[in-house]
Amino acid sequence: MRMRNWLSVTVLAFAGFAAQASEECQVTIEGNDMMKFSTDVISVPATCEEVSITLKHTGNLPAASMGHNVVIADSANVQPIGIDGTSAGIDNSFIKPGDDRVYAFSEVIGGGEETTLTFSTAALKAGGDYAFFCSFPGHWAVMKGKFEFK
Ligand code: CO
Repeated sequence: MRMRNWLSVTVLAFAGFAAQASEECQVTIEGNDMMKFSTDVISVPATCEEVSITLKHTGNLPAASMGHNVVIADSANVQPIGIDGTSAGIDNSFIKPGDDRVYAFSEVIGGGEETTLTFSTAALKAGGDYAFFCSFPGHWAVMKGKFEFK
């Protein structure tokens, strides 16, 4: 009985969420001290003209040793962007300044912090092969997933 009530509330809350188009364009993910994101896929409708991704770092380690950010790029460009970003330093969010392979990127945060990346989807195509990843040195090899825009 208790479980059934809980389920009803959850379903109602989800229906309310889906009814508001703009909320479909806002996503929250987490990163932790284990160098992991909380999801492998971020999915937003291609009707979103603007997308907001909030990243919460749920760990305790500082940005200098376990920094996380969110970068959006073509899946094929994750590695080259990550390699070039290493020497760019944390002040540049580990993104080579002016890197036009990058659609959007957030600042790098440490444990207990959060940041929101809001960007226009004008350069994206529905159904494109996109990825989100952390450009902190080495993290891009494992902290990455699909960014679905469809
Ligand atoms: Co990271």
